Amino acid sequence: MCGIVGYIGHGDKKQVLIDGLRELEYRGYDSAGIAMMDESGITHYKAVGKLINLENKASEYSSNSYGVGIGHTRWATHGKPNEVNAHPHLGEYSFVVHNGIIENYQELKKELQDEGVRFLSQTDTEVIVHLFEKFNNQLDNPFQAFEQTIAKLRGAYATLLITKKDPETIYFAKNGSPMIAGKDDHGSVYFGSSDAALIGKAKEVTYLTDGDYGFARSGTIHLFHAGESMVPAMVPLKSDKIYAQKEGFRFFMEKEIYEQSSVISDTMLGRVLDDEIHFDEIPDGLFDGIREIKVCACGTSYHAALASSYLFERLSQIRASVEIASEFRYKEPLLRTDTLFVVISQSGETADTLEALKMAKLAGIKTLALCNVDNSSIVREADATILLRAGIEKGVASTKAFATQMMVLWMLALYLAKDKMTAEKYRFDLEAMRLIPGLAKVNERIHEKVKRLSKRYLHGHGFFFIGRDIFYPLALEGALKLKEISYLHAEGYPSGEMKHGPIALADSELFTIALMPQTLLYDKTKSNIEELSARDSTICAISPKSFELADDMIRTSEQKHPMCEFFEMMVILQLLSMEVAVRRGNDVDMPRNLAKSVTVE
Ligand code: F6R
Repeated sequence: MCGIVGYIGHGDKKQVLIDGLRELEYRGYDSAGIAMMDESGITHYKAVGKLINLENKASEYSSNSYGVGIGHTRWATHGKPNEVNAHPHLGEYSFVVHNGIIENYQELKKELQDEGVRFLSQTDTEVIVHLFEKFNNQLDNPFQAFEQTIAKLRGAYATLLITKKDPETIYFAKNGSPMIAGKDDHGSVYFGSSDAALIGKAKEVTYLTDGDYGFARSGTIHLFHAGESMVPAMVPLKSDKIYAQKEGFRFFMEKEIYEQSSVISDTMLGRVLDDEIHFDEIPDGLFDGIREIKVCACGTSYHAALASSYLFERLSQIRASVEIASEFRYKEPLLRTDTLFVVISQSGETADTLEALKMAKLAGIKTLALCNVDNSSIVREADATILLRAGIEKGVASTKAFATQMMVLWMLALYLAKDKMTAEKYRFDLEAMRLIPGLAKVNERIHEKVKRLSKRYLHGHGFFFIGRDIFYPLALEGALKLKEISYLHAEGYPSGEMKHGPIALADSELFTIALMPQTLLYDKTKSNIEELSARDSTICAISPKSFELADDMIRTSEQKHPMCEFFEMMVILQLLSMEVAVRRGNDVDMPRNLAKSVTVE
């Protein structure tokens, strides 16, 4: 996830771009860059790290003559966060910025390289500017060249391009990544990845939809869709910046829950192929001689680790064990060189996980990190990393990072299962995987139901979230979410384990949130819940099947694969904890006593 901005006008281009990027810095901050063009030509600056580095570097520049500018703040997906990979990317006479992932960039890059084009960066973005120049050299028509360029791109993108061949114009295209275009009363045009970048500048904006493209020139936005010219639907721009960063949602947590569908798609791009799983990031030989996988993490990431142990054993048929990092550090573990040590971390800075990783490295065993933050301490330490591509997570309660962790772990289990599963079973998983972006989309009807139900769960002496198999780690995660932001006591438990003690707590003030998937051990789970109902526990069942003993029922869709049910239930649990916290008047995004990145033991 990156942020992009664009500007056409008489104002101080550098300042307009930097101001816009500052509002988008939450979308990525491992490098940033700007390019401005006026009568004196094109000038560009790039800098690694936070925006302030770019500001310092460009401090000498100013231009108030009429011209154009584009800027970018980067969250690395392809290529390390360094200056060469920072945007804007340049060709012979044009510059481009891009947010998203060009899925077919390798094939396009190869074609261009075969034609003699030299690439400077490792990014997917650079193909856009070279394709554009190739077509423009043939057609001598920048608009047609841009149209042909975007017709070649597969994947998600929001992109802006400027070129010396048409110096007062910005070309734009949007497909799958956000982009807004706006205007003021003085003939200026603005672009941004979110309204936040345009507030205080543009008066009215148009929210571009997937497939939109066009160009802006002399205060006018020329919009096209599928070859047809369109009239942009302009609406007045709101003035509250924090509101704009939340993109209309009440909390960052809510925005992040709603984003899960699209970040899961990003996670899958270029990795879930037609008939196999592919990871560019896995070096040759990483799995050679490996007989066991040990997965280590904290908190929510630990729950993803626990769920993955079921997947590694069931799908990949490889022994898998799980460790809580703070426990692992001091248990004097026996580490064997035929073990792959996998750490999972959203932030990449969690002290316990980082130390556990260092211990594994010291023991000479191979390590792999699943992490959301490129260039973080954990990424730098591990032998190999698979990035989660969840974008920056601002809510302290982790949601979309967990979703992408689960997705990558499932993909990894399937990657390792290629020669162990029958072709039919393998295809079954692969097909189920493609359904997940749809299933992780928030169903508004269910959200409304959860909002209404939440009022019944504000008191009581505790919650038990229960499930079996992979739904047990999901139950743990549901309970953790509720604890963190509602400050109510909640436990996650394996359904079958309740009768070994916790059932003694059952009465009408004990709330049981029962995960009852139909594809996995339904009857066994049902019997466990009947035992709790018989002791008068209040039951909220989450299931596609109606359950007559439930006091409350949240109906999920009929699915064939347990992971499809998993992702659907995950969203419901996140919404439930959020709505309970809202009713209790808590600070959803910054719950008491917690921090987003736990860099202490
Ligand atoms: C819960 C939560 C924490 C983190 C844990 C590990 O919502 O966010 O439990 O999961 O602190 O953090 P990372 O994944 O950054 O290592």
